[in-house]
Amino acid sequence: MTFETYDSSMDVLTPLLKGYLDALHFLEQVGIETLPIRKEPFMTKQPRSISPEPMKKRENAARSLNELEERLKNCSRCKLAKGRTHLVFGEGNPQAELMFVGEGPGRDEDLQGRPFVGRAGQLLTRIISAMNRKRSDVYIANIVKCRPPNNRNPEPDEVKACMPFLLKQIEIVRPKVICALGGVAFQNLMETKAPISKLRGNLYPWREGIYLIPTFHPAFLLRNPAKKREVWEDVQKIMAFLKGEKQS
Ligand code: URA
Ligand code: URA
Repeated sequence: MTFETYDSSMDVLTPLLKGYLDALHFLEQVGIETLPIRKEPFMTKQPRSISPEPMKKRENAARSLNELEERLKNCSRCKLAKGRTHLVFGEGNPQAELMFVGEGPGRDEDLQGRPFVGRAGQLLTRIISAMNRKRSDVYIANIVKCRPPNNRNPEPDEVKACMPFLLKQIEIVRPKVICALGGVAFQNLMETKAPISKLRGNLYPWREGIYLIPTFHPAFLLRNPAKKREVWEDVQKIMAFLKGEKQS
């Protein structure tokens, strides 16, 4: 702004508002029509950082996850139930700072009852190692807990039936970052129809201080190995974010 164009009505708030509107405009352009931040708060507990008894909390979290899994064991809330060998609840550190969410169990996962153990899962395990972490450091779950026939995408009624359980898992684990693997995971968590290719590369504030970052699904990477570079960029963003959180 030059002296000539200075307008006294342009106070300090104007550039801030403009930046905010630009950001909203960008989100609108890429297809985000609603901002889910704090739309339906689900946390009732205090933030983890002020918990006086971390060990006890860890046991509580593990117990709560076990109880939730127990409650889900004989689930028949949607039509995927009748085709399953095993329900795939999820697994990992009950207090993980990083959580991965996939789409739904595939054949290997259905047979073993564990998430991401097939070929795509092995690639996910390598991605986690590249982040200097073990699978047991993170928490891994899916949008739907039972295998869709022929690995088709989960249908809206199936997602609707299963989502409360994923949200409960997130509430218990309370990660700092959720990495959504692929479009189905991201679109359902973020409630958007925007393609993942447009949205990856950023961390989005999700709910209650938890950030969400989309990246390509490892099964997609098996078919498109050139995209691994972009996933590596996303992974570095996650690591930098978690490191920054520790320092602050
Ligand atoms: N693909 C997924 O989305 N989830 C799994 O658990 C395995 C493969
Ligand atoms: N589209 C998706 O839905 N997922 C991917 O991982 C890549 C493209």
